[in-house]
Amino acid sequence: MDIRLIDAKNHLDSPVRISGWLAGKRSSGKLHFLQIRDGSDFIQGVVFQGNVSPEVFERAGSLSLESSIRITGTLVEEKRSPTGVELQVTDIEVVRASLEDFPINKADHGPDFLLEHRHLWLRSKKQWAIQRVRNTIIYATYEFLADQGFIKIDAPIFTPTSCEDTTELFEVSYFEDKAYLSQSGQLYIEAAIFSFGRVFDFGPVFRSEKSKTRRHLTEFWMMDAEMAFVDHKGNMEMQEQLVYFIVQKVLEKNIYELTILERDIEKLRSLQLPFLRMTHKEAVALLQTMGSSITENDDLGAEDETLLTKDRTSPIFIEKYPYAVKAFYMKKDPENPFYALCSDMLAPEGYGEIFGGSQREDDYEELLKEIRAHNLSESDFQWYLDLRKFGSVPHSGFGFGLERIVTWMCGTHHVREAIPFPRTMYRITP
Ligand code: 4AD
Ligand code: MG
Repeated sequence: MDIRLIDAKNHLDSPVRISGWLAGKRSSGKLHFLQIRDGSDFIQGVVFQGNVSPEVFERAGSLSLESSIRITGTLVEEKRSPTGVELQVTDIEVVRASLEDFPINKADHGPDFLLEHRHLWLRSKKQWAIQRVRNTIIYATYEFLADQGFIKIDAPIFTPTSCEDTTELFEVSYFEDKAYLSQSGQLYIEAAIFSFGRVFDFGPVFRSEKSKTRRHLTEFWMMDAEMAFVDHKGNMEMQEQLVYFIVQKVLEKNIYELTILERDIEKLRSLQLPFLRMTHKEAVALLQTMGSSITENDDLGAEDETLLTKDRTSPIFIEKYPYAVKAFYMKKDPENPFYALCSDMLAPEGYGEIFGGSQREDDYEELLKEIRAHNLSESDFQWYLDLRKFGSVPHSGFGFGLERIVTWMCGTHHVREAIPFPRTMYRITP
């Protein structure tokens, strides 16, 4: 019977066939131990000379790494195996033998080598685990937002203007003209709240950031959510509920993957609501006592975010940054217009910013003034200004970078492992 390894436990002590690849091999005398993957899980297959024909024993011995195989045998309970089962092999069919030695074959390949072979590296156990956690986070996000009454609205990728920093735009030729790749779908989903109330987008965005940090990609996946009649405070509440939901889903579905990744699971289990809120001003005061040279006029740097979060296990919100360091569309704090009604959510354990959000400027004149003050093209933003002409409402939204959340959940060092094919300042291949 053909099965997938994910169902192995339901087929104990009966003959099965598994279609997959040879991930590893070790031999000793009358035994070959085969590490087999089929995409859904991993298993060890034991080929005992006494159990198979001489041809099959010989075939097992000469199998090259990453050959595709169909392998028949009996699944038996094996306490010492991570999945609790082992395959006693009776037959092996080679689908396609690897044509050459598989290049990823030792434990200590450097990051450049691995990234150069990303198309093959994706097969390794840790990379398998990371992408499965990513998948859980994507589905958890859809589920949570749907339960909260959001509908998905797909924002365009070709755009005539910037959404965030104008210096980080990728320009592309567009027939006789030029266009920019989207930095965030936010402005477009703002239009959609006037039709649907609560909406989100989830797709790739592009930033030509000349950043070499472990947190930056040039192409990454962003989820933007936007809500009519919700203020800055309600905005933060929605964000923390979403993160809590995501973490619970990962704990429910991915303990096995987190174990493969050697993640300290207790830290994720100890996540608590509500998340701590700290104003930018308070954060600066705290950072200064920790040796940072930040001032009350500055945005937080990556090191500042690390300092604030490295000893925590729950995320924190830093709210009310100086308006001057944030994007033009944010609403100013009516109590003190030096500040924006915004928040960044910083992930614990030193991971730093994962969410950015704010209440949006909903007044036509005020928004027009800021578009002019930021030297943005009034005509390009006319459609966005229109939203403040016809039934404008207080509204707020937020966006997260998927890879930053995956990196934190998995406890990996660099954001580039959180996306199947990372694009950075230095790499757009494979
Ligand atoms: O903070 P950002 O720039 O916010 C926005 O784009 C808003 N328009 C979102 C909104 O309110 N709808 O980006 C949002 C998140 C960041 O918090 C970070 O997690 C991630 O996107 N991010 C990056 N991730 C990887 N590489 C980069 N270069 C990133 N830049 C931002
Ligand atoms: Mg931000």
